[in-house]
Amino acid sequence: MRILALESSCDETACAILENASLLSNVVVSQIDIFKAYGGVIPEVAARSHLEAILPVIDQAFQDGNLLKNGQNDWSKIDAIAVTHTPGLLGSLLVGTLTARTLAILHKKPLYAVHHLKSHIFSNWLTASPSYPLLALVISGGHTQIIRMTSDTDFEIIGTTLDDAVGECFDKVAKILGLPYPGGPSIAKAAKSGNPEKYPLPIPKIKDLNFSFSGLKTAVLRAVQKEVDVPISFPSHELKNLLTPEQINDFAASFQNTACKILLQKLKKAQKIYPDTASIVFAGGVSANSALRSLAQKTFEKSPNSPKLYFPDLKFAGDNAAMVGIAAYHEILSGRQPTDPYSLNILPRSEIS
Ligand SMILES: Nc1ncnc2c1ncn2[C@@H]1O[C@H](COP(=O)(O)OP(=O)(O)OP(=O)(O)O)[C@@H](O)[C@H]1O
Ligand SMILES: [Mg+2]
Repeated sequence: MRILALESSCDETACAILENASLLSNVVVSQIDIFKAYGGVIPEVAARSHLEAILPVIDQAFQDGNLLKNGQNDWSKIDAIAVTHTPGLLGSLLVGTLTARTLAILHKKPLYAVHHLKSHIFSNWLTASPSYPLLALVISGGHTQIIRMTSDTDFEIIGTTLDDAVGECFDKVAKILGLPYPGGPSIAKAAKSGNPEKYPLPIPKIKDLNFSFSGLKTAVLRAVQKEVDVPISFPSHELKNLLTPEQINDFAASFQNTACKILLQKLKKAQKIYPDTASIVFAGGVSANSALRSLAQKTFEKSPNSPKLYFPDLKFAGDNAAMVGIAAYHEILSGRQPTDPYSLNILPRSEIS
Protein backbone atom coordinates (compact mmCIF):
# COMPACT_ATOMS: atom_id res chain seq x y z
CA MET A 1 0.00 0.00 0.00
CA ARG A 2 1.31 3.46 -0.93
CA ILE A 3 0.21 6.37 1.24
CA LEU A 4 0.69 10.03 0.35
CA ALA A 5 0.78 12.02 3.60
CA LEU A 6 0.46 15.76 4.19
CA GLU A 7 1.36 17.84 7.26
CA SER A 8 0.69 21.56 7.72
CA SER A 9 -0.35 21.99 11.35
CA CYS A 10 2.10 24.77 12.25
CA ASP A 11 5.00 26.20 10.23
CA GLU A 12 6.26 23.24 8.19
CA THR A 13 4.67 22.27 4.88
CA ALA A 14 5.43 18.61 4.33
CA CYS A 15 4.59 15.71 2.03
CA ALA A 16 5.84 12.14 2.26
CA ILE A 17 5.07 9.00 0.29
CA LEU A 18 5.33 5.63 2.01
CA GLU A 19 5.16 2.12 0.65
CA ASN A 20 3.79 0.28 3.68
CA ALA A 21 6.21 1.29 6.45
CA SER A 22 9.05 2.30 4.09
CA LEU A 23 9.65 5.86 3.11
CA LEU A 24 9.83 6.57 -0.64
CA SER A 25 10.12 10.35 -0.26
CA ASN A 26 10.02 12.92 2.51
CA VAL A 27 9.85 16.63 1.68
CA VAL A 28 9.71 19.32 4.39
CA VAL A 29 9.64 23.05 3.68
CA SER A 30 10.13 24.97 6.92
CA GLN A 31 9.06 28.57 7.50
CA ILE A 32 11.71 29.02 10.20
CA ASP A 33 13.62 31.60 8.12
CA ILE A 34 10.47 33.75 7.79
CA PHE A 35 9.70 33.64 11.52
CA LYS A 36 13.29 34.20 12.71
CA ALA A 37 12.74 37.88 12.03
CA TYR A 38 9.67 37.97 14.30
CA GLY A 39 10.86 35.55 17.01
CA GLY A 40 7.76 33.36 16.65
CA VAL A 41 5.05 32.07 14.32
CA ILE A 42 2.44 34.51 12.95
CA PRO A 43 -0.56 32.27 12.12
CA GLU A 44 -1.84 34.25 9.10
CA VAL A 45 1.64 34.37 7.55
CA ALA A 46 2.07 30.63 8.20
CA ALA A 47 -1.23 29.84 6.42
CA ARG A 48 -0.26 31.91 3.37
CA SER A 49 3.16 30.28 3.22
CA HIS A 50 1.53 26.80 3.31
CA LEU A 51 -0.66 27.86 0.40
CA GLU A 52 2.39 28.80 -1.68
CA ALA A 53 4.38 25.70 -0.75
CA ILE A 54 1.91 22.83 -0.66
CA LEU A 55 1.58 21.95 -4.37
CA PRO A 56 5.35 22.25 -5.14
CA VAL A 57 6.05 20.11 -2.04
CA ILE A 58 3.66 17.40 -3.32
CA ASP A 59 5.27 17.54 -6.79
CA GLN A 60 8.70 17.17 -5.20
CA ALA A 61 7.54 14.12 -3.20
CA PHE A 62 6.33 12.40 -6.41
CA GLN A 63 9.62 13.28 -8.13
CA ASP A 64 11.83 12.08 -5.24
CA GLY A 65 9.82 8.85 -5.03
CA ASN A 66 10.26 8.19 -8.79
CA LEU A 67 6.50 8.22 -9.17
CA LEU A 68 6.19 10.27 -12.36
CA LYS A 69 4.52 9.12 -15.58
CA ASN A 70 5.24 11.19 -18.69
CA GLY A 71 6.58 13.91 -16.41
CA GLN A 72 3.33 14.09 -14.37
CA ASN A 73 2.54 12.88 -10.84
CA ASP A 74 1.37 9.28 -11.26
CA TRP A 75 -1.65 9.11 -8.97
CA SER A 76 -2.38 5.52 -10.06
CA LYS A 77 0.55 4.54 -7.81
CA ILE A 78 -1.06 6.06 -4.70
CA ASP A 79 -3.58 4.00 -2.68
CA ALA A 80 -4.52 6.42 0.11
CA ILE A 81 -4.10 10.00 1.31
CA ALA A 82 -3.40 10.91 4.95
CA VAL A 83 -3.50 14.39 6.45
CA THR A 84 -3.14 16.10 9.83
CA HIS A 85 -6.54 17.47 10.87
CA THR A 86 -5.96 18.33 14.56
CA PRO A 87 -4.53 19.96 16.70
CA GLY A 88 -2.76 22.96 15.20
CA LEU A 89 -3.19 26.47 13.84
CA LEU A 90 -6.58 26.86 12.19
CA GLY A 91 -5.39 28.51 8.94
CA SER A 92 -2.44 26.12 8.64
CA LEU A 93 -4.60 23.00 9.14
CA LEU A 94 -7.11 24.37 6.64
CA VAL A 95 -4.55 24.44 3.81
CA GLY A 96 -3.45 20.82 4.35
CA THR A 97 -6.93 19.41 4.86
CA LEU A 98 -8.51 21.27 1.92
CA THR A 99 -5.67 20.09 -0.33
CA ALA A 100 -6.04 16.50 0.89
CA ARG A 101 -9.83 16.54 0.53
CA THR A 102 -9.60 17.94 -2.99
CA LEU A 103 -6.98 15.40 -4.06
CA ALA A 104 -8.94 12.52 -2.49
CA ILE A 105 -12.11 13.50 -4.38
CA LEU A 106 -10.27 14.25 -7.65
CA HIS A 107 -8.21 11.05 -7.71
CA LYS A 108 -10.81 8.87 -5.93
CA LYS A 109 -8.52 7.85 -3.06
CA PRO A 110 -9.54 6.98 0.51
CA LEU A 111 -8.72 9.79 2.93
CA TYR A 112 -7.40 9.32 6.48
CA ALA A 113 -7.43 12.24 8.91
CA VAL A 114 -4.67 11.80 11.50
CA HIS A 115 -4.21 13.32 14.98
CA HIS A 116 -0.92 15.26 15.07
CA LEU A 117 0.24 13.77 18.39
CA LYS A 118 -0.36 10.23 17.14
CA SER A 119 1.93 11.15 14.25
CA HIS A 120 4.62 12.44 16.63
CA ILE A 121 4.42 9.19 18.62
CA PHE A 122 4.48 6.99 15.50
CA SER A 123 7.57 8.82 14.16
CA ASN A 124 9.42 6.20 16.21
CA TRP A 125 7.94 3.38 14.09
CA LEU A 126 9.77 4.74 11.02
CA THR A 127 12.97 3.29 12.46
CA ALA A 128 11.91 0.77 15.16
CA SER A 129 9.08 -1.39 16.51
CA PRO A 130 8.52 -0.55 20.19
CA SER A 131 6.55 -3.17 22.11
CA TYR A 132 3.45 -2.58 24.22
CA PRO A 133 2.46 -1.59 26.82
CA LEU A 134 4.38 1.64 26.48
CA LEU A 135 4.60 5.16 27.80
CA ALA A 136 4.94 7.95 25.21
CA LEU A 137 6.39 11.27 26.35
CA VAL A 138 5.10 13.82 23.85
CA ILE A 139 7.19 16.98 24.17
CA SER A 140 6.61 19.59 21.50
CA GLY A 141 5.92 23.28 20.91
CA GLY A 142 2.28 22.92 21.95
CA HIS A 143 2.09 19.80 24.13
CA THR A 144 3.68 18.03 27.09
CA GLN A 145 1.94 14.75 27.82
CA ILE A 146 2.57 11.24 29.06
CA ILE A 147 0.37 8.83 27.14
CA ARG A 148 0.01 5.14 27.99
CA MET A 149 -0.59 2.88 25.01
CA THR A 150 -1.49 -0.79 25.17
CA SER A 151 -1.88 -1.18 21.39
CA ASP A 152 -1.58 0.88 18.18
CA THR A 153 -5.04 2.31 18.79
CA ASP A 154 -5.37 2.53 22.56
CA PHE A 155 -4.27 5.89 24.04
CA GLU A 156 -4.73 7.12 27.61
CA ILE A 157 -3.41 10.53 28.65
CA ILE A 158 -2.03 9.99 32.15
CA GLY A 159 -0.22 13.32 32.51
CA THR A 160 -0.37 16.69 30.81
CA THR A 161 0.87 20.23 31.29
CA LEU A 162 -1.35 22.49 33.35
CA ASP A 163 -0.01 25.60 31.57
CA ASP A 164 2.88 26.01 29.07
CA ALA A 165 4.31 23.23 26.93
CA VAL A 166 7.98 22.42 27.46
CA GLY A 167 8.91 23.44 23.87
CA GLU A 168 7.15 26.76 24.39
CA CYS A 169 9.20 27.19 27.58
CA PHE A 170 12.47 26.56 25.66
CA ASP A 171 11.34 29.19 23.12
CA LYS A 172 10.41 31.76 25.81
CA VAL A 173 13.60 31.27 27.84
CA ALA A 174 15.65 31.61 24.63
CA LYS A 175 13.94 34.97 24.04
CA ILE A 176 14.87 36.18 27.53
CA LEU A 177 18.49 35.14 26.86
CA GLY A 178 18.53 36.77 23.41
CA LEU A 179 19.07 33.44 21.62
CA PRO A 180 17.60 33.05 18.11
CA TYR A 181 14.28 31.40 17.18
CA PRO A 182 13.52 28.53 17.41
CA GLY A 183 14.62 28.50 21.03
CA GLY A 184 15.06 24.75 21.58
CA PRO A 185 18.05 24.20 19.29
CA SER A 186 19.57 27.57 20.35
CA ILE A 187 19.34 26.69 24.04
CA ALA A 188 20.78 23.23 23.36
CA LYS A 189 23.74 24.77 21.50
CA ALA A 190 24.47 27.43 24.16
CA ALA A 191 24.06 24.86 26.96
CA LYS A 192 26.95 22.79 25.54
CA SER A 193 29.37 25.51 26.78
CA GLY A 194 27.50 26.24 30.03
CA ASN A 195 27.46 24.97 33.60
CA PRO A 196 24.14 23.19 34.32
CA GLU A 197 24.59 23.62 38.09
CA LYS A 198 25.34 27.37 38.02
CA TYR A 199 21.83 28.69 38.60
CA PRO A 200 19.56 26.46 40.75
CA LEU A 201 15.99 26.57 39.41
CA PRO A 202 12.84 25.15 41.05
CA ILE A 203 11.19 21.82 40.23
CA PRO A 204 7.38 22.17 40.58
CA LYS A 205 5.83 20.07 43.35
CA ILE A 206 2.84 18.59 41.55
CA LYS A 207 1.71 15.33 43.12
CA ASP A 208 0.19 13.55 40.12
CA LEU A 209 1.67 12.99 36.65
CA ASN A 210 0.87 16.50 35.42
CA PHE A 211 3.47 19.12 34.51
CA SER A 212 3.82 22.87 34.87
CA PHE A 213 6.36 24.95 32.95
CA SER A 214 5.19 28.55 33.31
CA GLY A 215 6.82 28.85 36.76
CA LEU A 216 10.17 27.67 35.40
CA LYS A 217 10.11 30.35 32.71
CA THR A 218 9.38 33.02 35.34
CA ALA A 219 12.08 31.57 37.63
CA VAL A 220 14.64 32.00 34.82
CA LEU A 221 13.44 35.58 34.27
CA ARG A 222 13.80 36.42 37.98
CA ALA A 223 17.21 34.72 38.21
CA VAL A 224 18.48 36.71 35.21
CA GLN A 225 17.16 39.97 36.67
CA LYS A 226 18.88 39.17 39.96
CA GLU A 227 22.13 38.22 38.22
CA VAL A 228 22.34 41.50 36.31
CA ASP A 229 21.04 43.46 39.30
CA VAL A 230 17.90 45.06 37.90
CA PRO A 231 14.40 45.24 39.47
CA ILE A 232 11.63 42.77 38.51
CA SER A 233 9.92 45.58 36.56
CA PHE A 234 12.90 45.69 34.15
CA PRO A 235 11.71 44.81 30.58
CA SER A 236 12.56 41.19 29.76
CA HIS A 237 13.46 41.98 26.13
CA GLU A 238 16.29 44.28 27.28
CA LEU A 239 17.93 41.76 29.63
CA LYS A 240 19.93 40.11 26.86
CA ASN A 241 22.00 43.29 26.45
CA LEU A 242 23.21 43.02 30.05
CA LEU A 243 24.26 39.35 29.97
CA THR A 244 27.78 38.12 29.13
CA PRO A 245 28.12 35.14 26.72
CA GLU A 246 29.24 33.01 29.70
CA GLN A 247 26.13 33.91 31.72
CA ILE A 248 23.91 33.13 28.70
CA ASN A 249 25.51 29.70 28.32
CA ASP A 250 25.18 28.98 32.06
CA PHE A 251 21.51 30.04 32.11
CA ALA A 252 20.82 27.92 29.01
CA ALA A 253 22.51 24.89 30.61
CA SER A 254 20.82 25.38 34.00
CA PHE A 255 17.38 25.78 32.41
CA GLN A 256 17.82 22.81 30.07
CA ASN A 257 19.01 20.60 32.91
CA THR A 258 16.01 21.55 35.09
CA ALA A 259 13.51 21.08 32.23
CA CYS A 260 14.96 17.61 31.51
CA LYS A 261 14.82 16.67 35.21
CA ILE A 262 11.16 17.73 35.45
CA LEU A 263 10.27 15.59 32.42
CA LEU A 264 12.25 12.55 33.49
CA GLN A 265 11.15 12.60 37.15
CA LYS A 266 7.52 12.43 36.01
CA LEU A 267 8.29 9.73 33.48
CA LYS A 268 10.03 7.69 36.16
CA LYS A 269 7.02 8.14 38.44
CA ALA A 270 4.73 6.96 35.62
CA GLN A 271 6.91 3.90 35.06
CA LYS A 272 6.62 3.03 38.77
CA ILE A 273 2.82 3.29 38.56
CA TYR A 274 2.83 1.10 35.41
CA PRO A 275 5.56 -1.49 36.12
CA ASP A 276 4.52 -3.55 33.06
CA THR A 277 5.87 -0.77 30.77
CA ALA A 278 7.93 -2.49 28.07
CA SER A 279 8.96 0.63 26.11
CA ILE A 280 9.29 4.35 26.61
CA VAL A 281 8.86 6.36 23.44
CA PHE A 282 9.95 10.00 23.16
CA ALA A 283 8.18 12.18 20.59
CA GLY A 284 7.96 15.78 19.35
CA GLY A 285 10.49 18.53 18.66
CA VAL A 286 12.00 18.59 22.18
CA SER A 287 12.86 14.88 21.87
CA ALA A 288 15.69 16.02 19.57
CA ASN A 289 17.47 17.40 22.64
CA SER A 290 20.72 15.48 23.14
CA ALA A 291 21.03 16.30 26.88
CA LEU A 292 17.54 14.88 27.42
CA ARG A 293 18.45 11.75 25.46
CA SER A 294 21.54 11.02 27.52
CA LEU A 295 19.92 11.88 30.87
CA ALA A 296 16.99 9.59 29.96
CA GLN A 297 19.36 6.68 29.28
CA LYS A 298 21.02 7.26 32.67
CA THR A 299 17.68 7.59 34.48
CA PHE A 300 16.22 4.34 33.19
CA GLU A 301 19.24 2.10 32.73
CA LYS A 302 19.33 1.21 36.44
CA SER A 303 15.61 0.67 36.92
CA PRO A 304 14.34 -2.86 37.59
CA ASN A 305 12.75 -4.37 34.44
CA SER A 306 14.25 -1.42 32.53
CA PRO A 307 11.95 -0.48 29.68
CA LYS A 308 13.58 -0.04 26.27
CA LEU A 309 13.90 3.63 25.29
CA TYR A 310 13.11 4.91 21.79
CA PHE A 311 13.86 8.34 20.31
CA PRO A 312 12.82 9.41 16.82
CA ASP A 313 15.50 9.88 14.20
CA LEU A 314 16.41 13.59 14.39
CA LYS A 315 14.83 14.30 11.00
CA PHE A 316 11.49 12.96 12.28
CA ALA A 317 11.45 14.71 15.70
CA GLY A 318 9.95 18.01 14.49
CA ASP A 319 6.95 18.29 12.19
CA ASN A 320 7.12 16.18 9.01
CA ALA A 321 4.73 14.11 6.90
CA ALA A 322 6.56 10.78 7.13
CA MET A 323 5.18 10.46 10.67
CA VAL A 324 1.65 11.21 9.42
CA GLY A 325 1.99 8.44 6.83
CA ILE A 326 3.28 5.84 9.29
CA ALA A 327 0.56 6.74 11.84
CA ALA A 328 -2.09 6.33 9.12
CA TYR A 329 -0.51 3.03 8.04
CA HIS A 330 -0.80 1.63 11.58
CA GLU A 331 -4.39 2.86 11.86
CA ILE A 332 -5.30 1.24 8.53
CA LEU A 333 -3.69 -2.05 9.65
CA SER A 334 -5.88 -1.84 12.77
CA GLY A 335 -9.02 -1.59 10.65
CA ARG A 336 -9.57 2.16 10.64
CA GLN A 337 -12.16 3.27 8.07
CA PRO A 338 -11.51 6.25 5.74
CA THR A 339 -12.88 9.71 6.50
CA ASP A 340 -15.54 11.20 4.22
CA PRO A 341 -13.66 13.97 2.36
CA TYR A 342 -16.84 16.06 2.18
CA SER A 343 -17.29 16.13 5.94
CA LEU A 344 -13.74 16.16 7.32
CA ASN A 345 -13.59 18.46 10.34
CA ILE A 346 -10.56 20.45 11.36
CA LEU A 347 -10.18 21.08 15.06
CA PRO A 348 -7.58 23.60 16.31
CA ARG A 349 -7.55 21.76 19.68
CA SER A 350 -8.53 18.20 20.44
CA GLU A 351 -7.15 15.45 22.64
CA ILE A 352 -5.68 12.22 21.33
CA SER A 353 -8.17 9.36 21.70
N1 LIG B 1 17.17 20.30 20.35
C1 LIG B 1 16.08 20.78 20.92
N2 LIG B 1 16.01 20.92 22.27
C2 LIG B 1 14.90 21.38 22.86
N3 LIG B 1 13.81 21.77 22.20
C3 LIG B 1 13.82 21.66 20.85
C4 LIG B 1 14.94 21.16 20.14
N4 LIG B 1 14.65 21.18 18.81
C5 LIG B 1 13.39 21.67 18.70
N5 LIG B 1 12.89 21.97 19.92
C6 LIG B 1 11.59 22.58 20.23
O1 LIG B 1 10.56 21.77 19.69
C7 LIG B 1 9.42 22.59 19.42
C8 LIG B 1 8.90 22.29 18.04
O2 LIG B 1 8.50 20.95 18.03
P1 LIG B 1 7.26 20.48 17.16
O3 LIG B 1 7.48 20.92 15.77
O4 LIG B 1 7.07 19.05 17.43
O5 LIG B 1 6.12 21.32 17.87
P2 LIG B 1 4.82 21.94 17.23
O6 LIG B 1 4.44 21.12 16.05
O7 LIG B 1 5.03 23.39 17.08
O8 LIG B 1 3.77 21.70 18.41
P3 LIG B 1 2.70 20.48 18.50
O9 LIG B 1 3.37 19.28 17.92
O10 LIG B 1 2.45 20.36 19.95
O11 LIG B 1 1.54 20.93 17.71
C9 LIG B 1 9.86 24.03 19.57
O12 LIG B 1 9.37 24.53 20.78
C10 LIG B 1 11.37 23.93 19.57
O13 LIG B 1 12.01 24.96 20.30
MG1 LIG C 1 4.34 19.08 16.07
